Amino acid sequence: HGSKGKAARGLRFTPVAPNTTDAVTVPEGYGQNVVIRWGEPILRGAPAFDPDRQTAAAQAGQFGYNCDFLALLPLPGERGRQLLVANHEYTDEVLMFKGYDPANPTREQAEIAWAAHGLGVVVVEEERRTGKLTAVPRHHLNRRVTATTEFKVTGPAAGSSLLKTSADPTGKKVLGTLNNCAGGETPWGTTLHGEENFNQYFANASRTTDARYGIGTGASERKWERFDKRFDVAQEPNEVHRFGYIVELDPYDPTSTPRKRTALGRFKHEGATIRLTDDGRPVAYTGDDERFDYMYKFVGSKRMRHGNSRAAREHNLTLLDEGTLYVAKLTGDSPAIEIDGTGKLPSDGEFDGSGTWIPLATATAKGAVSHVPGMTAEEVYVFTRLAGDKVGATKMDRPEDIQPSPHTGKVYVALTNNTNRGVGSNAKVDEANPRNANKHGHVLELTERRNRADATSFAWSLFLVAGDPKDPATYFAGYPKDKVSQISCPDNVAFDPHGNLWISTDGAQLGSHDGLFGVATKGDRRGELKQFLTVPKGAETCGPLVQDRRVLVAVQHPGEITGATVENPASVWPDGPGKIVRPSVVSVWRKDGEDIGV
Ligand code: FEO
Ligand code: CA
Ligand code: CA
Ligand code: CA
Repeated sequence: HGSKGKAARGLRFTPVAPNTTDAVTVPEGYGQNVVIRWGEPILRGAPAFDPDRQTAAAQAGQFGYNCDFLALLPLPGERGRQLLVANHEYTDEVLMFKGYDPANPTREQAEIAWAAHGLGVVVVEEERRTGKLTAVPRHHLNRRVTATTEFKVTGPAAGSSLLKTSADPTGKKVLGTLNNCAGGETPWGTTLHGEENFNQYFANASRTTDARYGIGTGASERKWERFDKRFDVAQEPNEVHRFGYIVELDPYDPTSTPRKRTALGRFKHEGATIRLTDDGRPVAYTGDDERFDYMYKFVGSKRMRHGNSRAAREHNLTLLDEGTLYVAKLTGDSPAIEIDGTGKLPSDGEFDGSGTWIPLATATAKGAVSHVPGMTAEEVYVFTRLAGDKVGATKMDRPEDIQPSPHTGKVYVALTNNTNRGVGSNAKVDEANPRNANKHGHVLELTERRNRADATSFAWSLFLVAGDPKDPATYFAGYPKDKVSQISCPDNVAFDPHGNLWISTDGAQLGSHDGLFGVATKGDRRGELKQFLTVPKGAETCGPLVQDRRVLVAVQHPGEITGATVENPASVWPDGPGKIVRPSVVSVWRKDGEDIGV
C-alpha cells in the first residue's frame, strides 16, 4: 500500500509522515514555492513590506493577513495566468506588531488590522515546466477589499429596520467584511466568502439574540470599539446585524461593489458552495461553524444565464437574492449508538439515515415570507440561528466546509470536532454525531433524493470518523484502517479533477502538525486516505485547491502558539530565523512536471 501506481488515480504519492517540523513538508519528488506572503505589495504604489514600518495605507495595497479560502479562476487572454482570490480571515496582532500591548492597542494598529482583514485578488503566473506560481504585482485586476470597503446589502433583509444604523439610515450600505473563513466559486464567475466569527469584533452586547451569536458583553479582544463606535453594540446596536453573511465578489471587475447576500441567512458562515439544479438554478450549501449548530442550504428560484454579456453578468448577480433557505434535520436509522473504545458500528453496519431540509423563509421579488411560526421573514434572515432552534434542526459537531462533488453530486460536510458533545447538559450523541467529547471530528456524505440539488429530503452516512486509525472509534468508509493516514479535525474540503476529496485540517489533536489529505470517494479504494502535506508550527491548513499540475494551500496563522510574540516567535516560517513569521499561500507541484498523484 502507499506505493505509486497502486492507489486511486490522483492519490499516487508516498504519504507524508505526521511530524512537527516548522516547514511545509511535501511528498518525495514534489517541489513547493511561496506564491505570496502577508504584506507583499499587490496594488500599484504599494510599498515593499517592512514589518517595522507598517501603516494602514501600505497594508491596504498589500496582501492581507491570515489567508484562508483560495480560488483560482481562469484569465482568458493572458496565457499561463490565473486569478487568485483569497480570504484574509483575521489578524494576530501579537505576531504582527513588535511590543503589542493587548490592553492598549493604538489607533494605527487597529487601522492596520482593518486593512489586513477582508479579501485579496491577485493575478498569478505559472512557470512553464512546473506547477510553480508567482504573483504578478500591479496587475489592473489586483484588488484588496478590507474592513472599510463599501458593500451593498442585497436580498430580503436589505433595508430592514434591523440593519439601519446612524451612519447608514438605508440599511443597505455596510463598510467592510470580517472574518472571511472559507468560500466558494460560482459557475457564473464570482466568488463567495463566509463571514464567520464576526462576534469577536463587537463589544458591550446585552440582547438574547446577541448571546445566541456569542457576542460579548464586555470589551472586545481587539478593542476596536475605542476607535470606531460601530463596534460598540451599546452605542450602535444594529451594526452587528450587518455581519455574518455570505458575501459575493466579482473578481473580474475591480471597481465592482461587493454584496452581502442576506437570503442565505446570518450566522457564522464557514463558506458557501454551489451546485446547479437540473434546470440551472443555484443551490448553495453553507455550514454554521459552532458546536451544536446547523447545516443550511439555499435553493435559488432564478436560472443562471450563460455567456459573458453584460446583461447575463448583471442577471447572475441577482441569483442569490431570491429563493428558499432551508436547515437540515437528520435522523438515524439505527438505535442511536455511541462510537466508543470498542469500535462497534450500528446494528446495520453503518452510521447512516435520512434527513429533511426544513424551509425557513422564501424571498421573492415582491417580498419575503417566513415559514417559522412566531418569526417574521426579516427576523429569520437576521436571526437565522434562532429560526433553526425553533424548527428543531439537528445540532451538529461544528459544520465547517461543505462541498458537492462535481462528479457525483454527493455532498461532503466537514464536522471539525465538538469536545462538548454529551458533556453535562449538552446534546447527547446521535447517529450523525456519534462520538462523545468528539475531539477529532468526522466527515458526512449526503445524497440528495434522486440526486436533485433542490430536493427537500436526502440520505446521509458518515464517510469518515477521524482520529488515529489504531483507535477503534474511527471509520474510513469501511477501508482497511491499517492502510490509511491518521487525520484529526477536518475543516476545508475540495475535489481534485479525478473526484477524490481533499481535506485540510485545523487543530489536529494527534501530536503532529495540521495538514492536507486526499481520499478516494468511489470504487474499491473508497476511504483510502493519504496525507499529502503538513504545515509549520501553529499553522492551520486552509483553502486547498487541487488542479492537474498543482496543489495550492493557504498556510494560516503559522506561529500562533500561546505566549508567542514577534520578539519571541514559535515559528520562523517561511523566511527563516530573524524574519517575522508570515501567513502565506504555497503551491506544490511534481518536480518532473507530471500531474499531481498520477
Ligand atoms: Fe475559520 Fe470554521 O474555520
Ligand atoms: Ca475554516
Ligand atoms: Ca444506521
Ligand atoms: Ca477552522
